Amino acid sequence: MGEKEDMSVIYDFKENIKNDELEIIKEKIKSGGLVVFPTETVYGIGADATNGQAVKNIFKAKGRPQDNPLIVHISNYEMLKEFTYDITQTEKALMDAFWPGPFTIILKSNKKLPIDVTAGLDTVGIRMPDNDIALSIIEKCNTPIAAPSANVSGRPSGTNIADIFQELNNKVDIFVDGGNTNIGIESTVVKVDNNVVNILRPGRISLEDIKALGFEAKLDKHVFEDVKDGEKVESPGMKHRHYAPAVKTLLLEYTEDESIMLDVLKKYIAKNSDKKIGILCFTEHKQFLKEYNTIDIGSINNKLEVSSRIYTKLRSIDKLDCDEWIIEGLSRAGIGTAIMNRLTRACSYNILK
Ligand code: TXA
Ligand code: MG
Repeated sequence: MGEKEDMSVIYDFKENIKNDELEIIKEKIKSGGLVVFPTETVYGIGADATNGQAVKNIFKAKGRPQDNPLIVHISNYEMLKEFTYDITQTEKALMDAFWPGPFTIILKSNKKLPIDVTAGLDTVGIRMPDNDIALSIIEKCNTPIAAPSANVSGRPSGTNIADIFQELNNKVDIFVDGGNTNIGIESTVVKVDNNVVNILRPGRISLEDIKALGFEAKLDKHVFEDVKDGEKVESPGMKHRHYAPAVKTLLLEYTEDESIMLDVLKKYIAKNSDKKIGILCFTEHKQFLKEYNTIDIGSINNKLEVSSRIYTKLRSIDKLDCDEWIIEGLSRAGIGTAIMNRLTRACSYNILK
């Protein structure tokens, strides 16, 4: 399904953006093709947002549920006017504060975009990414680019080409390689209701960052709570299984006293001695876990290091020989909320405490 006959090609833009290849990317996008490109958060699978068939092909390539709308990526404010209306002062102030950047805002849609982009909702998610390659592609094509994260639905998002090449090869026309993405987890998604900024999906731009600029803001209840059958959600993405490795994973609850975490961890492993258990642990904890299988997810004091690595590490454990993996949790301050949101879901709400 959705397979192309030819292998996808890879353009290497790590050192610099190549003009002749940018020209080919434009031709592909303009003729309804799919291009995987880097942003500062994760890679996206991009298509011309105004081309209904191209947008349908994104859903096919990802195996994405039809009810889950796409984010539209823009490179300038002019593009906004073509498909949104009634932007409030608060919304404009948020865009000015956080664009270009890892920040998606849900605005009123004038319904001019193909129905699949918004999954039939009367709103549309928009983001101006902070990445030169992404911005040059959008600018060059002179059209908004609809792009979900580059991964097969349900899998962790791609943060480098090597991680996603196999699962998307033949399903897209071009991979643009910009190296490892910087932030490593997807943008913050917000919707403003009665002047209150509701965070639907946390990201690098945190609740604290938004409040620090004087906005009233809150986390949506489904950031950490599973959606019950039939319950209404603010964002369709909240309902779907996400970021999950194939192997069973457990999230170890964070405690300020780290020795408590290590105790809980060791007791669990001792009780389950029939299983081969691996641990995704902080750099600082490796020395206390020498007798176990560990993978370093970065420093407990450097959340950006953890966010930039986490999806690659989550992807790597499926290839390793363990029955179960425990992932060490961290505090929810700053980007910690976003990391814990992804890990909670990757572990299907299985918490070890
Ligand atoms: O960082 C990112 O945002 C990456 C890069 C490629 O830009 N993109 C990304 O897209 O993560 P995706 O499709 O994997 O996630 C988009 C999320 C979904 O949870 C979707 O439900 C939500 O945004 N969303 C999109 N449009 C929406 C709308 N109109 N109302 C509510 N939620 C919306
Ligand atoms: Mg995604």
